[in-house]
Amino acid sequence: MLSLRYDFNDLMAERVGEHGVADAELKALGPKLEAAAARVEKATLGFRKLPYNTKLADEVVALASGIQERSDNFVVVGIGGSALGNIALHSALNHPEYNHLLRPPRRGPRLFVPDNVDPDRIAGLLDAVDLDDTVFNVITKSGGTAETMSEFLVFRDALIKKLGPERHVEHIVITTDPAKGELREIVKQFGYTSLPIPPDVGGRYSVLSAVGLLSAAVTGIDIHKLLKGAAEMDALCQKSRKLWENPALTGAALHYLMDKAKGKNIQVMMPYSHALRDVADWFRQLWAESLGKRVDRDGKKVHTGQTPEKAVGVTDQHSVMQLYIEGPFDKVITFLTVDEFRGTVPIPTAFPDFEAVKYLGGHTLNELINAEQRATALALTQSGKPNCAIRLPRVDEKTVGALLFLLEMQTAYAGELYGINAFDQPGVELGKNFTYGLMGRQGYDAKRKEVEQASKPNPKWVVSV
Ligand code: PA5
Repeated sequence: MLSLRYDFNDLMAERVGEHGVADAELKALGPKLEAAAARVEKATLGFRKLPYNTKLADEVVALASGIQERSDNFVVVGIGGSALGNIALHSALNHPEYNHLLRPPRRGPRLFVPDNVDPDRIAGLLDAVDLDDTVFNVITKSGGTAETMSEFLVFRDALIKKLGPERHVEHIVITTDPAKGELREIVKQFGYTSLPIPPDVGGRYSVLSAVGLLSAAVTGIDIHKLLKGAAEMDALCQKSRKLWENPALTGAALHYLMDKAKGKNIQVMMPYSHALRDVADWFRQLWAESLGKRVDRDGKKVHTGQTPEKAVGVTDQHSVMQLYIEGPFDKVITFLTVDEFRGTVPIPTAFPDFEAVKYLGGHTLNELINAEQRATALALTQSGKPNCAIRLPRVDEKTVGALLFLLEMQTAYAGELYGINAFDQPGVELGKNFTYGLMGRQGYDAKRKEVEQASKPNPKWVVSV
């Protein structure tokens, strides 16, 4: 039993008025939903096998324990689906100040995931770590992404300069396709330790593969429990194709209707939990790259997809919430809430003569954050703004595994409702190819010419001061 609740009350017309989904609309979606669920069940989806790969998890744990012993810094060198899941797991399941703790109580090396090629960020990282104590995990499914490969070259060069060509090899672990790609060739030729990314698992669905598992295990996260939570969610999804029984299918149906029938083409994920804040970034990529498509499965132009956004509770109540409550009716909010936080912080009693302070004493920050979520949800509902909540009993390996898997399944079902391929990313590939051209990669000369011609700015439309 996961004790996770996906609460859709305030998406329903009964609660939120004309901007909510009516029973009749859901009923009308029935046959299409049934067909979408059937297609998902029939498809062999690589990411659905990941929760059951306990053999890989054992291997990862063994590798991680060696890394824990010999290093005090672990750097994930990857981007997009090869980084966002690592960040989400780290902030969800490690101490909020993990990198600043002494070791122990810190359970493993400090973790860095730059997820960018900003030169100051990368140079700054090299200033902050002692390379003798650092292991770099280069993660790229294609084995050729310019960002990841260039960082690999920078870090490898720094390692060779400090430790020499032989010793540097022990400081690099490569996670990539088991057979394809030039990085796999480099592994074979230069003897780096490596882990596989299953060919049938796309980057944004790969958090429960070696991509996300190694950095998690290195920092002391129980990856077997993580997989167990995901497997339980998978079993729930397999058990029923019915609305209100299968949480991922229900989430897909309601968000699809929100977008297509109610004009809510923006979905804001708003965690009321510091630990879950980066799940929203991970979800942004998952929902956007999977559903944002130019053509449907028949090749017809559809330009479809609901824009995922992130807001953080309570922080963004004092930033964007005014817009959400009183602005256009174009958004649906998904709260992430937690019943039991890891600890309780009581609010001390003081200043008995000052009403603005006095009432807080005797409560806890735990009560306050959840009261603020309830208050915000009601303010939205009363303003006719649909919102729903995924409620976790607590944030631990099992519930996080289940949450991530729920959102992956919801995305897979939604892809079938939209009639698009939720597992490719031709738009991303186009950008990658233009970059290869600009950076002089062989075979991409035509792409370079295309960018150079297209990007000549007309000075008339530039304000130079
Ligand atoms: O989901 C995806 O496929 C992408 O976002 C990739 O994860 C991202 O582009 C990085 O690709 P790669 O892992 O091949 O370096």
